[in-house]
Amino acid sequence: MFVGIDDISFYTSGKYLSLSSLARQNGEDPEKYRTGLGQDRMGVPGPDEDAVTLAADAAWPLINKENRQRISTVLFATESGVDHSKSAGIYVHKLIGLRENCRIVELKQACYSATAAVQMACALVMRRPEDQVLVVASDIARYGLGTPGEATQGCGAVAFIVKANPALLAVDTAYGCHSEDVMDFWRPNHMDTALVDGKYSTLVYLRALVSSWQHYRHDGGQRFTDLARFCYHLPFTRLAEKAHRKLASTEGQSLQGGLLDKQIAASLLYARQTGNSYSASLYTALLSLLENDEDDLAGQRIGLFSYGSGCVGEFFSMQVQPGYKKRSRRALHLGLLENRQELEYADYARLFSYSLPVDGGYHELPHGAAGRYRLAALDKHKRIYTTTGTQA
Ligand code: HMG
Repeated sequence: MFVGIDDISFYTSGKYLSLSSLARQNGEDPEKYRTGLGQDRMGVPGPDEDAVTLAADAAWPLINKENRQRISTVLFATESGVDHSKSAGIYVHKLIGLRENCRIVELKQACYSATAAVQMACALVMRRPEDQVLVVASDIARYGLGTPGEATQGCGAVAFIVKANPALLAVDTAYGCHSEDVMDFWRPNHMDTALVDGKYSTLVYLRALVSSWQHYRHDGGQRFTDLARFCYHLPFTRLAEKAHRKLASTEGQSLQGGLLDKQIAASLLYARQTGNSYSASLYTALLSLLENDEDDLAGQRIGLFSYGSGCVGEFFSMQVQPGYKKRSRRALHLGLLENRQELEYADYARLFSYSLPVDGGYHELPHGAAGRYRLAALDKHKRIYTTTGTQA
């Protein structure tokens, strides 16, 4: 029996800031962001959007009459949680109307936790093959106005169904992990922006990649040359290029003759437009690859590297299933990215500085969400989510 991803969908906010506007504001050459970081735009959430609404918008297209009854577990991966106690998954479970007999939990380890969710979901389905697991990964990346990290902000959510005999991707059992106590990026409980030792973080990322890869190979994982495509965690897409070169050189492989582009370019398209979506980022890369690679990848294997600062890295692989293109939501996702509203820098700065009232009163929130769900109000410190009436 194979276990893996049966269906996958993503969502990002309806607003973006062009990185050329940001470069102008910050006195940087736009090429630094476009070529140096490999980013074109960053998603900017509205005042009534958060990790819950983005996740619900990503998840609802996956839900149908059949799986509504079979989803036994919701695993919500995020580092932008909305409550120290209650799982964000409980709100999503209600918004998309899943069955009451369901276990729900939130997982955190920076950008890595969705991969822990994948492995846990696969284990649950191996135990009870008739069950399905909904995994959602949703995040808003915030570093602060005028900081070096600002150009790598963004937001987005990915949702997928893990089940037996999946239509899209079977997850291989071999894996390689690397964990280490480092302070490369962190966000203390009292802060709503991340702290980061930026250049150090990229070095630790690459170190974790090599170590995870070596462990994956030792665990019986595929050879470099047996993997047709590679997806990397994408804090900014240029790092995937560096990571892939590093991995290839570790294995004594050359990436000449267009191999670098062939193996990673299609996976970078969506993240260039959304910016970093933390826990969702690797799975946005996977989706971007499946929807935009010109070759038929059926039967081929994809290598994936998940990284979460602090840090945990994991290298693993998946095999693309025959007929996977039939499940594609490419037109929907490209439309979502193209139809966003471009913000002027001043509007972005205003949205960035907006913070939710904390006085415990009743507050209706300004409208901004372009999707199906929004955070409509706060009442006695409780979040009230509603639908917007939009079918987006
Ligand atoms: P910086 O200091 O603004 O940029 O910070 P830089 O000076 O290093 O320049 C960036 C690149 O642009 C360089 O390329 C420059 O040469 C190039 P490189 O030398 O590295 O190949 N450049 C230009 N290229 C073309 N034309 C030009 C030009 N000028 C310069 N005119 C940094 C960059 C990434 C450090 C910063 O944005 C940052 O701190 N970002 C946040 C941290 C981050 O994303 N880390 C990634 C690894 S950690 C991770 O992935 C985990 C994370 O997702 C969090 C989690 O797990 O939860 C972040």
